[in-house]
Amino acid sequence: MIPMPELRLDKLLAGTGALSRSEAKKAIREGRVCVEGTPVLDPSAHCDPAKTVTLDGTPVHWQEHLYLMMNKPGGVLSVTEDKHAPTVLDLLPPELRRRNLSPAGRLDKDSEGLLLLTSDGDFCHRVISPRSGIVKEYYIEVLHPFPAGAEELFRRGAVLEDGTVCLPARLEASEDRLSARVFLSEGKYHQVKRMALASGTRVAYLKRLSVGGVALDPALAPGQWRELTARERLLLSDNLHKSGMEAL
Ligand code: URA
Repeated sequence: MIPMPELRLDKLLAGTGALSRSEAKKAIREGRVCVEGTPVLDPSAHCDPAKTVTLDGTPVHWQEHLYLMMNKPGGVLSVTEDKHAPTVLDLLPPELRRRNLSPAGRLDKDSEGLLLLTSDGDFCHRVISPRSGIVKEYYIEVLHPFPAGAEELFRRGAVLEDGTVCLPARLEASEDRLSARVFLSEGKYHQVKRMALASGTRVAYLKRLSVGGVALDPALAPGQWRELTARERLLLSDNLHKSGMEAL
């Protein structure tokens, strides 16, 4: 295993989410931070993140990056800031809001469901890259029943109203054809809604159920979040290497 490089103590402490960088500097100078039981008073002192660091006697754990799943509720934007509307970051506690998290992919303001958030720019880029081919699964309800042949249109690759040709996708309509599961391996703007329109109906409700094989945790109520497990991160990384067609 490659050894972790040493970090400035104030940076390490800020990376635990317990304090901001300036609060960390202050706490260190006040003697509230110990490394392996010994108080360290210099915020610029370097420390191996594998060592036991305590703040006011409680061990804190440094993590380079955070990976979260959120059950995005309707009415919030999947961006990091907006002057007029609440964003998904507003649903996180302050110690997470300062961890440079960004949504790895978008859901429309009125859409719900699985949203991945991470501070790992490389991971985020790989998830949202058009080349990733990562499969996303949606549950939708529509205003009028899907016409016969909608499955075939999705399978062949729908042509959107502006001429954009979509990659082959999968539509699994319910018996009454008023709801469906949709599987896509790309993420064009309003894609599910526009594909539904191309097939002759209109989306009334949309919820994302999974991304790259990672399913929304049913224990998360709208607005709730949790960290991804190591297994979920591994699953995502594995699926990032498969092509969309193969996975569909
Ligand atoms: N497709 C849409 O049309 N909207 C979403 O929020 C996600 C996928």
